[in-house]
Amino acid sequence: MRVLIVGKGGREHVLAWKAKQSKLVTEVFIAPGNIGMKDIGTLVEIREEKIFELAEFAQKNSIDLTIVGPESVLALGIVDEFEKRGLKIFGPTKEAAKIESSKDFAKKLMKKYGVPTGSYQTFDNLLEALKYLDTQTIPIVIKEDGLKAGKGVTVAFSKEEAIEALEIAFDIPNNKVVIEEYLDGFEFSIIALANGETVVPLEIAQDHKRAYDNDLGPNTGGMGVYSPVDKIDEIIVNETVEKILKPMLAGMKQDGIPFKGFLFGGVMLTDSGVKTIEFNARFGDPEAEGILPRLKTDFIQVILDVLENKKTKLEWDERYTVAVVMASKNYPKSSTIGSKIEIPKNLESMVFHMGTRVENDELQTNGGRVLSIVSYGTTLEEAKSKAYNDINRIKCKEMFFRNDIGSKMCYNNKNK
Ligand code: AMP
Ligand code: GLY
Repeated sequence: MRVLIVGKGGREHVLAWKAKQSKLVTEVFIAPGNIGMKDIGTLVEIREEKIFELAEFAQKNSIDLTIVGPESVLALGIVDEFEKRGLKIFGPTKEAAKIESSKDFAKKLMKKYGVPTGSYQTFDNLLEALKYLDTQTIPIVIKEDGLKAGKGVTVAFSKEEAIEALEIAFDIPNNKVVIEEYLDGFEFSIIALANGETVVPLEIAQDHKRAYDNDLGPNTGGMGVYSPVDKIDEIIVNETVEKILKPMLAGMKQDGIPFKGFLFGGVMLTDSGVKTIEFNARFGDPEAEGILPRLKTDFIQVILDVLENKKTKLEWDERYTVAVVMASKNYPKSSTIGSKIEIPKNLESMVFHMGTRVENDELQTNGGRVLSIVSYGTTLEEAKSKAYNDINRIKCKEMFFRNDIGSKMCYNNKNK
């Protein structure tokens, strides 16, 4: 089989790496990919948002299966375009991808189908939003409606902070904002493969969304994960699948927008059970780097089985993984481009590239999140110490990372 991966970050690096390991796969193409993937497959010089060019490439090059990484490309309708041409692709249609591209759309569906989540209201003007805020308790969560790469969310621990977030959000013309009940608890990521009818959940990971140690600083796309998450046992996973993933999938099917692809729930384990923080319409990054290295079953076979509605049993490496993100100094505010990175050859960890480039034979930073360093360990501690040993050997003047990935056993937003 010839497989095309669409995207250029760490998630796509691990998707391509995993596809390459499949017995079914003869060739991997990545569009556009990044320099870290050059030994895995052929890098195709088509930017991911060029969905028509990508479809033409897939047709001309007899691509048997395309897997889409980024939400932005799904929101552009890449799946609709490929399917119109009879090309096999794993991902949701533009309409189904709205569970991520519109917070309001996702919340409405959750409410309609009884999927547990925090109470909320959506606003299109500051005045009404401020009036509603007056009736709510603090902490409170302010979310801009559209795609913000994990950065359009403010968990406000004071009224002033909430007002400021609303003012900033409504400075953007035609913006919509969701004001949402604050959920306290233990946050985890669940990613399942969905075919519109059924879901096959993967193992759980826990992300670290804040930029700095001890969950301080602004929200980011994610600064590191570990997997599995001991606290989230089989009972909680089943509860999540039965109460969150399955009703959402069934509801979407009923509404004529079946969801196919990676269905990603950001979930809070609260004192009153599991509650949805958000849905994403694709694999998480760095969740992919934490979860997929643990999957022993042939990944491409699993996707094909899910697409054909065949029963699949997944086998997992029992070891823990820890994935630590190395990011540009000012991420998420801005990113550094062109700072030299030196990676020793004999690292024990796997290095997935998120935002790198090569200029004048030199590896350089090329984005907000730059590298994802992933280690295995028979204990979480071992995985962690291996990852950090290697990180401390990687040299770059303009990068930072969190020192506490895998250390936080209880997620609690309070008192920030
Ligand atoms: P989101 O982009 O919706 O995943 O939000 C980013 C992060 O903000 C989440 O991963 C949570 O850590 C936090 N967050 C979002 N919504 C809530 C909520 N209702 N209660 C508490 N924390 C939240
Ligand atoms: N790491 C969270 C995300 O991919 O949205």
